[in-house]
Amino acid sequence: MSKQIQAIRGMNDCLPAESGLWQYVESTIRQVVASYGYQEIRTPIVESTDLFKRSIGEVTDIVEKEMYTFADRNQDSLTLRPEGTASVVRAGNEHGLLYNQQQRLWYMGQMFRHERPQKGRYRQFHQFGVEAFGLAGPDIDAEVILLSARLWKKFGISKNVRLELNSLGSSEARAAYKAQLVAFLQTRKDQLDEDSLRRLESNPLRVLDSKNPQVQNAVKDAPRLIDCLDDESAKHFSGLCERLDNLGIEYRVNSSLVRGLDYYNRTVFEWVTDDLGAQGTVCAGGRYDGLVEQLGGKSTQGVGFAMGLERLILMLQTLGLDQNIASPVDVYVTAMDESVELFSRTVAEMLRDTVPQVKVMNHCAGGNFKKQLKRADQSGADVALIIGQDEMNSQQVAIKYLREQKPQVNVALSELADFVQAHFSE
Ligand code: HAM
Repeated sequence: MSKQIQAIRGMNDCLPAESGLWQYVESTIRQVVASYGYQEIRTPIVESTDLFKRSIGEVTDIVEKEMYTFADRNQDSLTLRPEGTASVVRAGNEHGLLYNQQQRLWYMGQMFRHERPQKGRYRQFHQFGVEAFGLAGPDIDAEVILLSARLWKKFGISKNVRLELNSLGSSEARAAYKAQLVAFLQTRKDQLDEDSLRRLESNPLRVLDSKNPQVQNAVKDAPRLIDCLDDESAKHFSGLCERLDNLGIEYRVNSSLVRGLDYYNRTVFEWVTDDLGAQGTVCAGGRYDGLVEQLGGKSTQGVGFAMGLERLILMLQTLGLDQNIASPVDVYVTAMDESVELFSRTVAEMLRDTVPQVKVMNHCAGGNFKKQLKRADQSGADVALIIGQDEMNSQQVAIKYLREQKPQVNVALSELADFVQAHFSE
């Protein structure tokens, strides 16, 4: 036998046992974004490598170590998208959607990062994200946070996530702060690891983000960016905090929250959980007022977030909130011998015409009563329609309840649609 080919490490199949949960999550998200008036945008999975270098930043983990980059047949350097924001800005610029306009957009799809796979961290993963353009004030920052909070509420996990918030200020304030921070870090150089020493030169703010406890200890008394904000950014931040207070959204100001992508200014935030182990950030985002211009467009403000769908789904599973997902089948239609096969099909087609929201499966491949009922049970259906020659001759079906202790009943074909409709609307 030849060797089976396996999926790529860190890239998962979504099997039928889980696809119902994914569909539930996706449809809940679609419903919530629509209720805020956001519109969907779909961009290609592959983009020019330069797009991500120029937006996420050359000296970031994503660009330095994690991108799936390759030369295509024309020797152009292409990259599988590691995130969605850069692509949305590229598309917005290219199609004239941004300048002097307001846009509230959302997207959902696969992203790719060559990270070390572990629980909650994969090489192909899915993000749902929103991006709002052309809106300068903290009201829109509050709105996108509120939208994410509504999703936690819908999924029943509000108590399991907490919001961390920070402001990175303007680029000028950040530059002044960087000088202070570098001076401080120089005095602790002996306590920094190799990664942090490198970042000290290239991207000192990221040293604050180090996961190494020794580095964390070394930077705990570092000057705080939030104390060095320019006036406008400080006003923006207090405006956001005030709105969140009024909306009843709790948060913690975390002055070392800097994010791993370079395009942010002012507001940054993360929703974190303790239910996922090391990969506890389920959703993250912030404001990126310079990015549109940086990618060749006319200056337009932007703010948004992205949510890791695998992490959200893992949370629902961990908390046992994946139990009420609808079964793939509601009604299982048997056919007790070949002579009634066509009749059974016709009954099922009639149900699909008249009660299209009910999921109907036909039995295939024959077998005795016991075998057919076993399949009906395995399908997850709530009721089985028992159809044999007697039923066909009398133009009725027998209804067997598969999940309740109720006696079997006969229903005339002419009343079947109403019966099924009533049963499933209970
Ligand atoms: P990010 O923090 O790189 O931000 O990713 C956002 C979320 O995607 C993370 O919080 C996490 O839930 C999920 N995620 C990231 N990497 C992985 C992975 N390897 N496996 C599983 N899940 C992962 C962004 O991507 C920004 N574009 C967010 C944004 C939108 N900012 C403004 N607008």
